[in-house]
Amino acid sequence: MASQPTAVPRARSAGQILAGAARAVEPALRQAVRHLAPPIRRLTDYHLGWTDAEGRPAAVPGKALRPALVLLACQAIGGRAAQALPAAVAAELVHNASLLHDDVIDNDQLRRHRPTIQALFGTPAAILAGDALFFLAVQTMAQAPAPLCSTGLQWLTAAVQELIDGEYADTTLEQRPDPVSPSEAAAMAAAKTGSLISVSCALGALAGGADAQRTTHLRDFGSHLGQCFQLADDLLGIWGDPAVTGKPRLADLQARKKSLPVTAALSADNAPARELGALYATSRPMGSDELERAAHLVEAAGGRDWAIGQSRHHLGQALEHLRAADPEPAAEADLACLARLAADRTS
Ligand code: FPP
Ligand code: MG
Repeated sequence: MASQPTAVPRARSAGQILAGAARAVEPALRQAVRHLAPPIRRLTDYHLGWTDAEGRPAAVPGKALRPALVLLACQAIGGRAAQALPAAVAAELVHNASLLHDDVIDNDQLRRHRPTIQALFGTPAAILAGDALFFLAVQTMAQAPAPLCSTGLQWLTAAVQELIDGEYADTTLEQRPDPVSPSEAAAMAAAKTGSLISVSCALGALAGGADAQRTTHLRDFGSHLGQCFQLADDLLGIWGDPAVTGKPRLADLQARKKSLPVTAALSADNAPARELGALYATSRPMGSDELERAAHLVEAAGGRDWAIGQSRHHLGQALEHLRAADPEPAAEADLACLARLAADRTS
């Protein structure tokens, strides 16, 4: 008798994966924010994309990358997504808390195509909304079943300390007059962006009951994905389309940020690198022609190609760690798709 062909599940697109994770996590996220006082909730609901500036319902949520990684890492080791739900909520809350504070630090007026909380309601509102979301994340983990409420909470808070260290490094590198090496910038990015992405994968593995080796591979998968993500963010900050990124173009260059492509460009031994160094040494605001020139110089000095090459390298490393975690095939396909999305945003 002829055997029945095995049904091969069709691979999901990154958009479908992220939308699925957003749908899975939203009810629990909405439940968690009910603990906040109504005036603070007005701010956090706006920041989370659920309301407009007047408090009317809206739907402009973030990407839900971190919750997707938590849920998929849990499924990758054979767990059920529901086991990892509190960690997915906590990761999304910490991420949003950090963005609120980051927009204050960067004095940014636009995020996800909308005015930031500080642009609409002022700096104290943005700081306090960030504090509220951050401690809500801690409460969510503290109330989760073991091991999320014990080991998981420790891992999350350790990652947040790294996040803070990385963000502080970002601000001090910006001010530093002497050269910043690409490896220093990469270490900053690993802490600022990689730590939360990496712990999201580790928390998913923990919730699903993974052993130490599989957990470490998933954590390392997340670290490399985090590098891809920050490289893309930095490249899009210079060459991205504001209609797509939702953030103004060239703001990083105006702020003299030592982003990854910029540090690579500045450390090159060529004429564009020296001209870029001279432009970066000025403190007056650059005009639009100068900003375009600076973007051209980053590329001419080799910063753009370096960053794209780095992104390919980290994608390769991420996929190797994913394979080594011996994941369930469907979750592996989704995680690999998200890693490729993070890297492909650069080209
Ligand atoms: C975005 O960087 C910022 C981060 C990835 C981390 C920010 C971390 C903190 C503010 C410290 C932690 C604080 C709390 C409350 C947990 P970016 O400016 O390069 O990216 P952007 O272009 O999206 O602004
Ligand atoms: Mg910022």
